[in-house]
This record gives sequence, C-alpha cells and structure tokens, in this order.
Amino acid sequence: MKESASSSDRYFDIHVFCCINERVPGHHRGSCSARGSVALQEYMKARSKELKINQRIRVNKCGCLDRCELGPVMVIYPEGIWYHYQSREDIDEILDTHVIHGRNVERLLLKPEQKIMNPEVPERIELHVGHVDEYSHDISRYELMGEDGKELAPFEPGAHIDLFTGDGLRRSYSLAGDPAVRDRYVLGIRRERASRGGSDWLLDHLSVGDRVEASLPSNNFPLDQTAARHTFIAGGIGVTPVMAMGHQLRLESVDFHLHFCAPDESHAPLLDEVRLIFGDSLSLHLDNGDPAKGIDLDHLLKTPKPGEHVYVCGPLGLVASVREKASHWPDGSVHWEPFTPEPAENTQENEAFEVVLSRRNIRLPVTPEKTILETVREAGVEIESSCEDGLCGCCRIRLLGGVPEHRDLVLTDAERESSKEIMICISRAKAGEVLVLDI
Ligand code: FES
Ligand code: FES
Repeated sequence: MKESASSSDRYFDIHVFCCINERVPGHHRGSCSARGSVALQEYMKARSKELKINQRIRVNKCGCLDRCELGPVMVIYPEGIWYHYQSREDIDEILDTHVIHGRNVERLLLKPEQKIMNPEVPERIELHVGHVDEYSHDISRYELMGEDGKELAPFEPGAHIDLFTGDGLRRSYSLAGDPAVRDRYVLGIRRERASRGGSDWLLDHLSVGDRVEASLPSNNFPLDQTAARHTFIAGGIGVTPVMAMGHQLRLESVDFHLHFCAPDESHAPLLDEVRLIFGDSLSLHLDNGDPAKGIDLDHLLKTPKPGEHVYVCGPLGLVASVREKASHWPDGSVHWEPFTPEPAENTQENEAFEVVLSRRNIRLPVTPEKTILETVREAGVEIESSCEDGLCGCCRIRLLGGVPEHRDLVLTDAERESSKEIMICISRAKAGEVLVLDI
C-alpha cells in the first residue's frame, strides 16, 4: 500500500490558493477580485514572510474557484479547508490560528454545501397542535407541543416563534405561556382583516393533531432585568407577550402592573387567564369604542418613578401614543412591540434611489413602486422576511453606506441615529441616494 506523504516529505507544508478572478462590474456572480482579494493575497504573502513561516507555506494566486458568491474565498491544502475573508484582521487570524496553531478559524469557515453567505436559515422544528380554545371575536388560543410531549427549547418572556404557513408565508407569534412550562408553546391568535394570509391560514387550517413547522424562539421584546418597576400597556391581542412576562415576574420581588386596553370585556383576549396571572396588578381600560374614554396616557406617563420601565404592545396607534407621551422618560426605559399591522398612513413619498449589494458587487436601481426587498429578490438574492410591514425585524440588513429613510417600527431612536442597520421591506432613501447593503 502506498504511504501518504508525511509532513517532512513535502516541499511546503501548506498551500493556500486565493482566488483573484476578476469579472465585469455588475456580473450577477460578482468576483473575488472586486471584493478586495488581490490586496489581501499580497498582504497574506508578505505577512507570512514577516512571521518567518514562508518556508512552510505557499500563498498562491489562482483563478475562479467557482464559489464566487461567497468571495473572497481561499482554499488551504492539504486539508482542503475553505475560508471567506474580508480584511487584514481575517488574514492575521487565519495565519495565526490555522497555519501556526493548526486549528480551524470557525467564524470564517465555508461549509462544503454552503451556497450563500451567512445562510442563517433558522433551525426549524416540527410542532403539533395539542389543544385549541376558540373565543369570541375570532380569537383562538393554541397550545403547540413537540414530539411525545418532550421538552421544547426554552424561551424568555417577550419571545416569539415564527410559524411557516402552508402558503409560503411566515408569521411571528408571541409566546403567551409560562416560560417555566417546557412542554408547550401557547399562542393567542386573532384573525386579521388586513391579513396577507398568515393568521387566517392558521385559524382555517390548524386543528388538534395537525402539524406545523416553526422556528426556535427568539426575543425582540425582552424584559429589562435592571428595572425596579415594570409598567405594561397592552392593547387587544398585544397582551400575549406580556402574559409570559407576568408569569415570570410574579415569582420575583419586583413591582409590575398591567394596563389592558380593549373596547369591552368580550374583546379583551384571554381575559380570564390574564386575570389569573396579574391578580391585583391589573387595570382594565374599556372604552366601549370611544377612545376618549380609554386609558389616560398623559396621566400614567407624566412622571416616571425611579427605575420604572414601560412596555407597550398592541396596535400601531397605541404604540405611537405611548412612545410620544413617554418621550421624556430616561433613555432605554421605553420598550415597544407593535402588534397589529393596521395600515399606517404613509405620508412619505417614495423616490427612486440605488442599492449596492456589497458582497456581490451589484448595483440596482430601486424604483418608487418597489421596495428594496422586492428589488433584491428580483435580482435573484434570497432574503428572509416575515411581516413586510417594518414590524418584526426579520429583514434587518447591515448598512455599510448611504443615508437611509427609516420607516420601520423596530429600530430604537439610537439605532436610527447610528444607521448601522436597515429594514429593507419598508425603509428607503431619498432620490439619488446610494445605500450600500451587506448582502
Ligand atoms: S471569482 Fe472567486 S471564486 Fe469565482
Ligand atoms: S419583514 Fe418584518 S420588518 Fe421587514
């Protein structure tokens, strides 16, 4: 049997091949050269000489390695390890960790089957409907269970899961149950008149025993653990994440109170359960359809108590009012999650601008009729989305340049100010602007 060459038999221990292929600007696959591979290959070569490891390693330029969408790419032999790299820091880490210390640089590794950058495809789990309760006014309470009643992934109060509906939509639902109960996820669902199909599909198609694919829980609306007092304001079905918060807080020695707003008791979702969770820490605000008789936000939010945080979840109008009336509260003490995608009146005109997809070196015009998300998808790039109303944060993309016009309800004021991210389902830019996206 032929023996494989030992390290001492090789002329070089390690061969690195860095793609420096160049393509015409705008090519749909992009190229490594357009993303800076030429300078970085030269840097890697020079740096290996400075580190006095150039007797062991050969850093070669090469032509297209056919993984252009992931570029710049390099492949290192004899192991055949692939890396994506973008900076001198990445090169330094590859030289130090891989070449000198013989360990993979996990954060830069490309998997053999990988086709797109950061394929952070959320892990999907299969759940089945264990129990459904139907209430008046198109409200239902679902209990979703795992296989054989096994424990599900833990969740924090305020978390949601996404359900992948049969018609290709993906909708987020807050988890309303007790985080300590690990064998089920409890959802409160209301049929939405303006729904693009998500809620309706669930209510029309899911009954006890049916199966549905879901994401793992994630949390865009967490409790602030530093707060001395939590004040919750919930409108309608927006009470669901607050219910999970109540479950947790009643075990802790911290003040909390829920102001629950609805037209009348029959329209207050899951009211019996809310009463059990919150007990005396609940105020019901029933306006009988006349907002003037509803919650007095001016009074409630006039003077924050020391360490008090306010959380609002519900229709856009309620969220906007609370944010406005609590605008004098200390930074970071106002938390919100819009819940009902009421069609917001868009007073801003859509203008034409451009986006650059930096990883692909593609420049695309965005017309007033199209969103950035639609434009990018039409160019053949897959992007995850959910609400497509600027409410959920699913389409959040890193912004590398340009001045955006943020229209979402996800980013905080500080995040808008820094403009490091953008919700591409709804946010835009002024005429003539060029937004550089990390896609
Ligand atoms: S251009 Fe670098 S892999 Fe194709
Ligand atoms: S898809 Fe929900 S914010 Fe864009």
